[in-house]
Order: sequence, then C-alpha cells, then structure tokens
Amino acid sequence: MTCLSFLRRRSLDSISRHPEFGDDLAGIRNVNIYTYKELRIATNDFSPENKIGEGGFGSVYKGQLRDGQMAAVKVLSAESRQGVKEFLTEIQMISEINHENLVKLYGCCVEGKHRILVYNYLENNSLARTLLGRGHSDIYFSWRTRVKLCIGIARGLAYLHEEVRPHIIHRDIKASNILLDKDLTPKISDFGLAKLIPASMTHVSTRVAGTLGYLAPEYAVRGQLTRKADLYSFGVLIIEIVSGRCNTNTRLPPEEQYILERTWKLYERRELVLLVDTALGGEFDVEQACRFLKIGLICTQDSPKLRPSMSNVVRMLAGEKDVDGITITKPGLISDLMDLKVGGEPDSKPRPNQASSSYNSSSLGDSENTTTTTSAPSTQINTVFTISDGRN
Ligand SMILES: Nc1ncnc2c1ncn2[C@@H]1O[C@H](COP(=O)(O)OP(=O)(O)O)[C@@H](O)[C@H]1O
Ligand SMILES: [Mg+2]
Repeated sequence: MTCLSFLRRRSLDSISRHPEFGDDLAGIRNVNIYTYKELRIATNDFSPENKIGEGGFGSVYKGQLRDGQMAAVKVLSAESRQGVKEFLTEIQMISEINHENLVKLYGCCVEGKHRILVYNYLENNSLARTLLGRGHSDIYFSWRTRVKLCIGIARGLAYLHEEVRPHIIHRDIKASNILLDKDLTPKISDFGLAKLIPASMTHVSTRVAGTLGYLAPEYAVRGQLTRKADLYSFGVLIIEIVSGRCNTNTRLPPEEQYILERTWKLYERRELVLLVDTALGGEFDVEQACRFLKIGLICTQDSPKLRPSMSNVVRMLAGEKDVDGITITKPGLISDLMDLKVGGEPDSKPRPNQASSSYNSSSLGDSENTTTTTSAPSTQINTVFTISDGRN
C-alpha cells in the first residue's frame, strides 16, 4: 500500500513536472517519467564504466536513481517508431505487469528523440554471462538452483502467455534475457518491447548471430509467430540449463555442435543422462534431469501444434503431468534450416502474406492455429553463417 501510493505520487509528480507533454500524458497512470538529466546523473553521464551490456536494441547502463534505488537504464538506439502517446501507452502496459519471474520496468524517459527504459537492476547478471559464460562467473549452479531456474522461467512465460491480457509473445527468449537476482531467482527481461522498436530492428534478421539457435523454424523461415515460437526457444533454453552449454558451439566435433541435434540423438539412444552438465559432479536427480531434457525436446518439436502450452510445461516440470506417455517427434533443427538455404541469395521481395504494416503484434493471442506473419526474415538466412557459438 505504502509502495503503491509512493509510485502513484511519483508518477503524478512526474507528470506535473512535464507540462511539455500536454495531452500525451492524459490517461497514463503509474508510469514513472524520468528526465534525461536525471538519467544522466544516475549513470554518471552514461559513462563507459557504468555500461553493463549492449544488445540489439541499444546499450544498458547501471545507475542509481534519486531515491537511491539501483536501476538498469536501457537506451534504445533506434528512433522511436511511434509518438509519445503510443510509446507511453505501451510502457504503461509493461509497467503494470508484476510477476516474480519477470523483470520490473520502473518507467521511461521520452524527451526529444530519447527513448530510454528504466528497469529494476539485477545483481547477478544473465544466464548467458554466468551459467554459460565460460568461467567468467564464480556462481555455482547446483541442480536445485537449475530446477528453480527452469520452473521460474516457465512460470514467467506462462504468465505472459496466459494471464496477461492481451497475451504477450516474448519472441526473444534466450539466456541473455534471463537475469538473476541476488538469490538466483530468474527474471525474464525484454518482454513487450516489440511495439516500441522499428520493425526492421525487431526482427531476427539484424540480430541473428546470438539468437538463431533459439529460433523456431516456422518463425525463422516463414515469419509465423505464435506463442509456440516461444515454446521452442524455452525448450532450447532448458536444455542449456541442464547441460550447462550453449545451444551452438562450433568448437565441438561436428556431430555435437548443435545442442538439439545432440539431445535428439542421445534421446534415441536412451542416453539423455550423458548430456547433464559434468560440472554438477554427478550431484543431481537423474530421473528429474532426464525428464527436463525430454520436456526440452517436447517443446522444440518441429510442428508447433505438437508443442504444449506453457502452463502444461509448468505442470510437467513440477512432476504434476506425465511426460513419459508423450510420443516425442524430431525437433526442428537449425542445421536443416542451413541445408535449406545454403548459398541462397537474400530474397528481398515482399511475400504475398507479409503483414502490410510493420509488425506490431507481440501481444496477439493465438488459438492453436492462429499465426501472425511478420515481415518475414527474408534476408536472414545468409546471416546464418555469421553464427558464433550462441553466446552474446
Ligand atoms: N535489469 C538488468 N539488470 C542487470 N543487467 C541487465 C539488465 N538488463 C540488461 N542487463 C545486462 O545488459 C545486457 C544487454 O541487455 P540487452 O540490451 O537486453 O541485450 P541482450 O538481451 O540482447 O543481451 C544483458 O545481457 C545483461 O547482461
Ligand atoms: Mg535483453
């Protein structure tokens, strides 16, 4: 209650401090509006020492707000695709989302061309930098912690898919978008950003290098977006968490480079347990670990229809829903995509079913079959060959 009234007071204060927005702020509630000056001070003039990351959408700085709270300040690099009012409406929707496994958006800055998002700062960085970060972190991820990570991420995603109205398809579930608080509780970041950023940047084509291994084939090739594309990425991610390795590692022997291929082969040979991270020193629950890997395979099946809903995944992970009775079909594989397009010239022609306006439907609901065709990633397949080892 105290906290709510604080937020409300603060946002009303903010609005009264920004008469230049005029009617743009009418109807916008509970969004903190930060001035550019305030964020410059918080980040020490966006100093390189405070820079904590650089992603496809811009740079992220650590900062301390006036009330002493630490924040992650994300400076969007592209000019906004929309006016202040539309931008703030989206921000309001995102700021209203509260869940233990989702990063909290505090507010934003919309001065002139600046579009900056201010998030809760997470102490323990991302799964990409820690668990998958090649020894750059001293955090030990016990089996118990990994279980907590998988279930927490699944709950956060189920919330976005099934509780939030309108539903949100994340579109970029990957290890660097899973942030960790001081207790290693996972928090999904970057949800709801699709409408804030120009369509040309929201698609994978510009950001494919580190993300391709998470992309559902139907989305990568045809731009068909449903919640099931998130299921695919989630499936890859839990296999990474159990195995402690990135989805793609070109330094491994060819047959082991792609984690899904490897998982499928081991599944067929009934040797899934060989995939479990050796860093655990054998300290894990074998039945549970193999179940989690199977769930990863269930989520990454080539046909989106065969992938379960996120709430069912939560039940499977928690052991409340049987997994052994499910017939698992082969995953959609990245190497198959490469075979498909090897040597192909980028095709820049618009497709017949290409969405006419820029893609703006991260929050579409999808019944089992409803899909959104985005501006299909026609040029991206050539970029496949820039793939590194799945890390960024
Ligand atoms: N709220 C946050 N708290 C702590 N670190 C963050 C936060 N948000 C982002 N970061 C760091 O900044 C990096 C870049 O973030 P981002 O711009 O979202 O790009 P990406 O998700 O592609 O890595 C992240 O990988 C993470 O290390
Ligand atoms: Mg991110």
